[in-house]
Amino acid sequence: MARAMEDHKLSEDFKQQAAQAALVELRPGMRLGLGTGSTAKHFVDLVGREVANGLEVVCVPTSEKTAAQARELGIPLTDLEATPELDLTVDGADEIGPGLALIKGGGGALLREKIVAAASKRMVVIADASKDVETLGAFPLPIEVNLFGFGATLQRLENVLKDFGAEGQAVRRVTDTGEAFTTDGGHAIVDALFGRIPQPEALSLALLDIPGVVQHGLFLNLCSRAYVAGPGGIKIVDA
Ligand code: A5P
Repeated sequence: MARAMEDHKLSEDFKQQAAQAALVELRPGMRLGLGTGSTAKHFVDLVGREVANGLEVVCVPTSEKTAAQARELGIPLTDLEATPELDLTVDGADEIGPGLALIKGGGGALLREKIVAAASKRMVVIADASKDVETLGAFPLPIEVNLFGFGATLQRLENVLKDFGAEGQAVRRVTDTGEAFTTDGGHAIVDALFGRIPQPEALSLALLDIPGVVQHGLFLNLCSRAYVAGPGGIKIVDA
């Protein structure tokens, strides 16, 4: 128990250090995408501190949770209607693979995260070193699914898992209290355990070919830089 608490504390320290390192990316007047998750939360706290010290930025949050945190901190918010192009998005990741291909969506915000990242000139990822992997796929890939026809979509997803030699299954996400998890957009999340995803581009196309799939958590050719914090300090990886 004590060991688990120590490990958690260490990983929180690394997340905080990665967030701190990414502050060098900020410039006055920036239009900024704010990520979701425990690492992005540290960054949003730091943006709040900078705003309190006079930094002028305008931000688009990637989830209701991040929006609430940003409002609390007095960070000026906008949306992609008023501000369709952003300068930078800073977000966390569940896995960072070769070429800065990512798995995201562990927090269930992948759709808004991908829309915001795609609307940004640059996406920067912040993470602790445990997220750095040689091959994507040990983390179950989150897939956002429309509720209409859910059973049919799940069946087609299971076929894709088979085609790609998945080690595990596609499972609908539930909350800690056992209820069906719903995204900010009102969709379900299916977590698909592939084990290994050596060809993420091919998998991305196969998933997007299923009509009920709204989006998936493979972020390909979106991330320009990662700040990864570990026992050896901060590693900066450029795409
Ligand atoms: C949210 O939906 C996710 O994409 C997060 O960015 C990702 O799960 C990383 O979260 P942590 O920083 O909490 O590990």
